[in-house]
Amino acid sequence: MSGTVLIADDDAAIRTVLDQALGRAGYDVRSTGNASTLWRWVSNGEGDVAILDVIMPDENGLDLLPRIRRIRPDMPIIVMSARNTLLTAIRATERGAYEYLPKPFDINEVATVIERALQAPDTGNRSTSEEGEGEENLPLIGRSPAMQEIYRVLARLMATDLTVMISGESGTGKELVARALHDYGKRRNGPFVAVNMAAIPRELIESDLFGHEKGAFTGAANKSTGRFEQAEGGTLFLDEIGDMPPEAQTRLLRVLQQGEYTTVGGRSPIKTNVRIIAATNRDLRQLIKQGLFREDLFFRLNVVPIRLPALRERTEDIPDLARHFFSEAADEGLPLKSIDNAGMNRLKQYHWPGNVRELENLVRRLAALYVEDVIGPDIIDTELAETGVPQAASSPLEADSLTAAVDQHLQRYFAAHGDELPPTGLYMRVLRELERPLIMRSLAATRGNQIKAAELLGLNRNTLRKKIRDLGIEVVRSSAVHPTSTETRVQAFDTQGINNL
Ligand SMILES: Nc1ncnc2c1ncn2[C@@H]1O[C@H](COP(=O)(O)OP(=O)(O)OP(=O)(O)O)[C@@H](O)[C@H]1O
Ligand SMILES: [Mg+2]
Repeated sequence: MSGTVLIADDDAAIRTVLDQALGRAGYDVRSTGNASTLWRWVSNGEGDVAILDVIMPDENGLDLLPRIRRIRPDMPIIVMSARNTLLTAIRATERGAYEYLPKPFDINEVATVIERALQAPDTGNRSTSEEGEGEENLPLIGRSPAMQEIYRVLARLMATDLTVMISGESGTGKELVARALHDYGKRRNGPFVAVNMAAIPRELIESDLFGHEKGAFTGAANKSTGRFEQAEGGTLFLDEIGDMPPEAQTRLLRVLQQGEYTTVGGRSPIKTNVRIIAATNRDLRQLIKQGLFREDLFFRLNVVPIRLPALRERTEDIPDLARHFFSEAADEGLPLKSIDNAGMNRLKQYHWPGNVRELENLVRRLAALYVEDVIGPDIIDTELAETGVPQAASSPLEADSLTAAVDQHLQRYFAAHGDELPPTGLYMRVLRELERPLIMRSLAATRGNQIKAAELLGLNRNTLRKKIRDLGIEVVRSSAVHPTSTETRVQAFDTQGINNL
């Protein structure tokens, strides 16, 4: 390898590592700890490629970057940063960095990138979109290597319309990532429309997506617009794509292939211009094997796969996330609190089946239910006590058997409504109302183990998870009841209310 690599980084240790490794790889290396020296070299026409740190004593590398691009548009610049937010990655990409590498870096990767940069020095103005929002409101929190890798990919996607498939466990931030892609991407002035495949009755999905004509099916009294039309010029987020029924999958595939669709009951094709982002917490390859998901659709959607790490894979982000959620709670009027080191260590050891959402809920409980300003390990232990048991204990469902529960519901219904018949029919209504106590009791019986509860109920695990979320059931830990807080707790989390039959 040959060529001169210029390095500006105020960390001497990093300069040493790079000097040695790149020197060994055959490059001439010149390094400096400040931006102005690098600027002098670059203005003198020295160097073939530059590595630029962001935080330096005399100037921010991200400010220097566009100036270098202006006088040396052919020189690839690699930005390396320990600042590690999504915005750093986006800014570096927008301002024309050849590559953005988060620190700590893998030296082999640096060498590969430099080699690539020197072989195919892609010129042209890489800076594609004007800049979006300011720095204050970071869309995503977390500086772990796993998240930085995500930021790096996201930053490169901002200027594109590529279809993205986001996967990850429940609560890992899939929807947040989809929104960030829209909000900072080139379609940010267009609409963002989200559709959850698991939340729409299967038989209505096609009309929901594509719209329908008046009289297209029983109940279609009027013409209605679909999500594709609503999302025109913007982004369509297809959430829980694994739950899409087969006929709708076929139709969607055709739309993606042809760039046009017809409404349900309609004839003439309508051109569409939407960017598709899909998300799933299910294993689509598994679904394909089971014949439940079309492989060809999968390949259409899986153009850029993004796998979000579980919170247990990035425990170093927990302090930042907790701080963020405490400050959000404070914005809503709750007292600002913090967690001490020992408490934080407890959080890092926990396995977080509900991921960031579970942490967010925990922080809200801490903010709302405890008087302490600084939360210690014993409170955390109480909150995280071994098993999750739903707060069924405080629900009005005293009876042991479901028969008794049905009676209770019927009684309550008639007490509230007299002889007046419910508009939707009692059968569906009672069934719907029973879902909640049934799920709560099943969770209680399995000590909060959702997998076991799903087996007990004969429900798909994801279906159960979805129902738990949609019904607003908060899985509260068994011994978590704070001496004085039972009332608050019930109010705070039984939002849907079991009593509104
Ligand atoms: N990196 C993050 N920084 C800040 N908040 C986050 C982050 N990731 C997730 N959250 C928060 O956690 C909650 C869950 O995130 P989100 O709804 O995006 O998860 P999801 O992966 O779509 O979950 P599900 O599969 O259950 O739909 C949201 O309140 C979101 O704001
Ligand atoms: Mg989601």
